[in-house]
Amino acid sequence: MRRTIDWDGDAVTIIDQTALPAEYRILRLRTVDELIDAITRLAVRGAPALGGAGALGVVLATRAGGDVRASADRVAQARPTAVNLSWGVARALEKLDEGAEAVLAEALSILDEDERLNRAASGHAAEIVLGLCDRRPLRLLSHCNAGHLATVAWGSALGVVWHLHQRGLVESVLVDETRPLLQGSRLTAWELAQAGVPYRVQPDGAAAAAMARGVVDCVLVGADRIAANGDVANKIGTYGLAIAARHHHVPLVVVAPSSTIDKSLASGADIAIEERAPEELRSYAGVTITPPGADVFNPAFDVTPAQLITAVVTEHGRFSP
Ligand code: MRU
Repeated sequence: MRRTIDWDGDAVTIIDQTALPAEYRILRLRTVDELIDAITRLAVRGAPALGGAGALGVVLATRAGGDVRASADRVAQARPTAVNLSWGVARALEKLDEGAEAVLAEALSILDEDERLNRAASGHAAEIVLGLCDRRPLRLLSHCNAGHLATVAWGSALGVVWHLHQRGLVESVLVDETRPLLQGSRLTAWELAQAGVPYRVQPDGAAAAAMARGVVDCVLVGADRIAANGDVANKIGTYGLAIAARHHHVPLVVVAPSSTIDKSLASGADIAIEERAPEELRSYAGVTITPPGADVFNPAFDVTPAQLITAVVTEHGRFSP
């Protein structure tokens, strides 16, 4: 599959994640404003992919001229929770004094690194999962999309599935649909189907019941920001999954490149959680599903305390808080 986000010599190219699975289409983003719009609409999403987006945002800003740092700052603030976005911006900005070509080279090296680091992190995690679970083949549970589409290539938590599937060790994956924007049923299920991995989509509310029935060997999730103490911000619903997993003695493994670790934050209490538009819950596929103007609580992420997480795994192996 082509990279989720890339540079074609003149523009940022992305696989439009608002269109999948109905349509596979590529968008070309030529300006900082177009990139910010794509980030906020989740046309490009997922923490590692946002790292690439941040760096390429600085490339677009250098080409446009004007106040590059102010434009870069707007890119960094397009979404607040995934630290990778501001990390990618900061890495590219470090090269600003060396000129536009140096900024581009840095952005391209972030894209190249991403696949390598995600392959390594998910490879370590696959070995850890095999050590934690006795059953073969494995029945895994995935929340949101932490696959190829959430990274530049390969995936983090879903990368574990790719490693294990290559060895014939995956029976099936239960895919949380991931309300309200359905990153699970639209994107993760699409990726699993492409790869020929057996899967079943379930409503998020079914996850605890699946664990109670004993059909989940391990929960695999990605991360948007990991605090120094090992608390993990990830897609809304991860915290509830972790509570259910602990109750049912099911391991929960978090997989992320080390760029997702934010050592400047002592704990998850300090992580800014994005609140998204009420419309995402008031309507579905253009049809109103609440009373008009219903009040809405729509956090995009939650924080799972470190003590509910079996392991956080990066390209360096198990992360020690
Ligand atoms: O709102 P999204 O779709 O960007 O949220 C993405 C997630 O929460 C992912 O689990 C996380 O970014 C890790 S992706 C490898």
